[in-house]
Amino acid sequence: MNELLTLAIDIAKRAGELLLTRPVNLSVDTKTSDIDIVTQMDRASEKLIVDAILAARPEDGIIGEEGSDRPSKSGYTWVIDPIDGTVNYLYNMDGWSISIAIKDADGVCVGVVYAPTINSLYTASRKGGSFLNGKRLNCNDPIELNRALIATGFAYRKEQREIQVEQFNKLILQIRDYRRNGSAAIDICHVASGIVDGYYEIGLHEWDLAAAGLVATEAGATLSVHGELVIAAGPYLHGELAKNLL
Ligand code: IPD
Ligand code: CA
Ligand code: CA
Repeated sequence: MNELLTLAIDIAKRAGELLLTRPVNLSVDTKTSDIDIVTQMDRASEKLIVDAILAARPEDGIIGEEGSDRPSKSGYTWVIDPIDGTVNYLYNMDGWSISIAIKDADGVCVGVVYAPTINSLYTASRKGGSFLNGKRLNCNDPIELNRALIATGFAYRKEQREIQVEQFNKLILQIRDYRRNGSAAIDICHVASGIVDGYYEIGLHEWDLAAAGLVATEAGATLSVHGELVIAAGPYLHGELAKNLL
């Protein structure tokens, strides 16, 4: 496991170095809607990550947001988001990240989320704890709903945003406040480090969630998936959020 974690960290750092060389002109293509975008740097980061995985572990499978899809011959599959928070990246706003997870037959076993602009390297291995820049993490618990700082995000599809408006309106009257940082992976890691108390969002994909989910649960958080909705928080607050959102 250590070997896989070391490799995932090394690859995430290399992708981070590449992404920090942000070109002045980004070419922007749209995907599922006019506001769901991909740049040449998303594609370049995914290529760097895939090439590095295949050079070290040619038998492993790969699922990547920008189209990588290789079956596994080894039992290990890498799940990657080459830039989580592309809109932040487009606007040159801090906080975007690279998310790299490895899963086996029992689920995610390694998770790395790297956000170089905020000097944050989140790492986790199954049953091995989670860490921010090498420092062990514990989520906040127990936290009452009326004291909770909650992160969330908004989807690119209008139908999902309509549901998100309802959820937002319901909870804003009951919690301390919201934060919208622009990278779901970082939001979920922030639950692990206690920078926020809880997180929920609808419409995530496996690559948004895989690495950060392990970081959160290894820090003692509860993470649950209910159809399109993901909730992550310390166990007590998780229950309160679930009561309100389900
Ligand atoms: C998005 C970010 C954002 C979240 C969206 C995601 P992308 O990922 O994580 O914070 O609200 O749901 O799709 O498109 O930047 O990789
Ligand atoms: Ca993403
Ligand atoms: Ca992405």
